[in-house]
Amino acid sequence: MKGKHIVLGISGGIAAYKAAYLLRLLIKRGAEVQVVITPNGKEFITPATLAALSGKPVVSEFFAANTGEWHSHVDLGIWADLMVVAPATASTIGKMANGIADNMLITTYLSAKEQVMVAPAMDLDMWRHPSTQRNIATLRRDGVIIVEPASGELASGLTGKGRMEEPERIAEAIERYFNNVESLKGRRVVVTAGPTYENIDPVRFIGNYSSGKMGFAIAEEFASRGADVTLVAGPVSLNLENESVRRINVTSAREMHTATLEAAADADCVVLAAAVADYAPERSEERKIKREGVEEMTLRLVRNPDIAASLGKEKGDRLLVGFALETDHELDNAHKKLEKKNLDMIVLNSLRDPEAGFMKDTNRISIISRDGEVKEYPAKSKREVAADIVDAVTARLVR
Ligand code: C5P
Repeated sequence: MKGKHIVLGISGGIAAYKAAYLLRLLIKRGAEVQVVITPNGKEFITPATLAALSGKPVVSEFFAANTGEWHSHVDLGIWADLMVVAPATASTIGKMANGIADNMLITTYLSAKEQVMVAPAMDLDMWRHPSTQRNIATLRRDGVIIVEPASGELASGLTGKGRMEEPERIAEAIERYFNNVESLKGRRVVVTAGPTYENIDPVRFIGNYSSGKMGFAIAEEFASRGADVTLVAGPVSLNLENESVRRINVTSAREMHTATLEAAADADCVVLAAAVADYAPERSEERKIKREGVEEMTLRLVRNPDIAASLGKEKGDRLLVGFALETDHELDNAHKKLEKKNLDMIVLNSLRDPEAGFMKDTNRISIISRDGEVKEYPAKSKREVAADIVDAVTARLVR
């Protein structure tokens, strides 16, 4: 972040004291930082501290009281390579989401030309309130990066999610943003996600517990780095935040096979994160199967096409990344899969791990590469895991 211009917006929460530390980290890493503080923010930390650390007078009012000098939010918005609001209170988040420009921080936000990042800080009840969650969703849709609050002890004495992420982690997110922005521009990526449903009759199917969260997070992460992303999604109830992702909805493994192969034709990389059914009923009944007079039933299943293997057969220059969710002999099985399907990388998560797998928000992975290298990662949120996977892909794709 050397030489980068960062506007650090500080709003009025107890976590404002940590903003001084964040500011120091940014300055140490070579950034030029302009602090904009809300009137309430000044109740928690003094402009003198922030001005001394940043080497610039702190901006808070539209006009300087003694000279009448106008502080231009427009100029600030143009100057900034990034605006970071830390801490962002529920009130500031609400104002940002709704364009209520009644202080210098919000007017600067509305004038910001480049990326904006927000590190929320509030009590757990405020964080989980539908109003806050709605505003956060709006900000995400507007392209703002949210540095999720952490769980732990809160200033209120309660324990839960809402405390501002530690300054080191926010600085890391900023560093990552500057390293990654547009790093995959022009690269075409296809991601498969979610389960498949194999129809038995019009109302019943064979499915699995895949939530699609991992694949969606990977697609979002690729898109945030400027890649041209197609997401082939099985039946899931998830929405994409990044509107640049092209989403193709499918139901069965056969549909997913067709859609993925078509999308992959001119792709540089395909990530197969879907949990594809291996078998489908030989036939799907046109009418609902009745139980009257039927005591036993045999369902005959036939093999589905293997999307990963099909792509592996005619691989070309494409980078192929598969997933392996194993219950036993994890590493061994993952290695075998990589060979058999002709993949370049395989992401392994074990069902034995309580922090990994279906329906969870966290995952613990290892990435196994073709050359035999195995890299293990600690348990992280699926978003962070997605960033690790995309980092590994980027290292191969952009040389
Ligand atoms: O199911 P299996 O463990 O073999 O899956 C390993 C990888 O192959 C995963 O990346 C999965 O998305 C992919 N796969 C596929 N088509 C299938 C089965 C699995 O693309 N029919």
